Amino acid sequence: MKTNKSKISTICCIGAGYVGGPTMAVLADKCPDIKVYVVDKNKERINAWNNSNLEKLPVYEPKLKDVIKRARDRNLFFSENVKKYIGLADMIFLSVNTPTKVKGIGSGQASDLKWIEACARDVAKWANGHTIIVEKSTIPVRTAETIKIILESDQVNKSKKTFAVLSNPEFLAEGSAVNDLENPDRVLIGGDDDHSIKSLSEIYNRWVHREKIIKTNLWSSELSKLIANAFLAQRVSSINSISALCEKTGADINQVSDAIGSDTRIGSKFLKAGPGFGGSCFKKDILNLVYLCNHFGLPEVANYWDNVISINNWQQKRISQIIVNKLFGTLTDKKIVILGFSFKADTNDTRESPAIYIAKDLLEEGANLIIHDPKVNQKQIELELGNDLNCSSKDKNIFEETKKQNYWKFSNNIENAIENADAVVIITNWSEYKNLNWNKLYEKMRKPAWIFDTRSLINIKEFKDIGINIWQIGT
Ligand code: NAD
Ligand code: UDX
Repeated sequence: MKTNKSKISTICCIGAGYVGGPTMAVLADKCPDIKVYVVDKNKERINAWNNSNLEKLPVYEPKLKDVIKRARDRNLFFSENVKKYIGLADMIFLSVNTPTKVKGIGSGQASDLKWIEACARDVAKWANGHTIIVEKSTIPVRTAETIKIILESDQVNKSKKTFAVLSNPEFLAEGSAVNDLENPDRVLIGGDDDHSIKSLSEIYNRWVHREKIIKTNLWSSELSKLIANAFLAQRVSSINSISALCEKTGADINQVSDAIGSDTRIGSKFLKAGPGFGGSCFKKDILNLVYLCNHFGLPEVANYWDNVISINNWQQKRISQIIVNKLFGTLTDKKIVILGFSFKADTNDTRESPAIYIAKDLLEEGANLIIHDPKVNQKQIELELGNDLNCSSKDKNIFEETKKQNYWKFSNNIENAIENADAVVIITNWSEYKNLNWNKLYEKMRKPAWIFDTRSLINIKEFKDIGINIWQIGT
């Protein structure tokens, strides 16, 4: 039986997703003496993590392939056998999804904790001896309490199994996950059991300086994760709101960002105007914060944070409307090329991508879309938009009546895609969209043609001479 030792030799991580996979890969890379088992009930995902072709890993992240190459099958293993590795582990990370509830109480706002609860039940059943449970998923404040109750509910085996629960939220951003994990600004550990806190901080301390390891109580740690995301998202909404004001007044949002960001009190990061924040975290975590505030009787605080999301939705709608207006108020049968479908550069993740909302709006207006993305495949876009060549109209009857054939298609060749296009909309800030030869591409478009640059990627000064119609965010 395992004892309450501080040195950890076996780790199990439940959830092999965007967080579990990269986080454990870096941990295993840095700690070759610790066996790290990443388990998931999704067989396809586990197979993809075990694929010998590193191009086919389920998560695309710069540098991830190198880390996996070094650690996989040495001390990093991916498996479907959740039961076995829970039983072997001294420490278990819960890294499962915590999306917004879609039905019942709190629907549309509260986090759905059914996956966390299922993990806690599995751990309660299959763990042996003393096990440290680490909340890696983003969860509402006081979730550790629920986890503890479930873990301790097995009265029969109470003496044979003991648990400690820690909060250790993950702050990695997609697209820079490996860098963020290798050089974190901080590691946050919340808990009330000094022994377990020491065990976890000793692991991080192999590559993170002691001063960067912040220790708090459980509730501060759980809440800090939600608040960090809320503050970051708030900056994006703040700058996006000002991008609209710049467009009305002749000010330039990039100049305004530089001017305010050079004040060290404000700081220069997260001041890039764009098509609104996407990703699996910001919206869900703010919705959860709003729910918590209302739950604790703080409607004014809830409304304040809710507005961060309202501005984000508005920014996406605003861009769709600008496109329609510039193209003479109708998109019927017009060919529009969408450059970028992931929610930001350097990731294949499309969750809550602004491209989904903008593409749906344009399809709704009757446009025919050609979608390009260097890392997102057609199948993934199908999951978000429905089958290509399918109608996106909300009202199928109207569609049947008019037989309107608006569609989207996938293309991996920008030059071909742009042939005869009426407009190009740059949505994701992929670096390869920065240096496109617009003189050449513009020639291929049907005139009068428009380029909508929602990420300020194009150096607009270069193009004034050849008479290209460019709309750029915040200018
Ligand atoms: P994800 O959906 O990519 O991965 C979650 C995985 O957990 C899935 O593969 C799913 O099959 C698996 N799973 C769910 N229940 C399971 C169970 N009972 N047993 C075994 N496997 C199970 O999610 P993600 O993006 O990795 O996010 C995980 C958590 O981390 C969320 O709470 C999220 O808010 C948080 N987070 C995400 C990011 C990010 O950038 N994606 C960053 C920081 C924190
Ligand atoms: C975010 C947090 O940054 C990270 O700490 C947390 O762990 C998970 O959520 P992520 O969503 O992966 O990470 O990416 P992030 O770089 O934060 O970008 C989120 C969205 O905001 C993207 O759509 C991005 O394009 C947008 N954004 C970001 C802007 O529009 N402007 C900016 O200046 C910064």
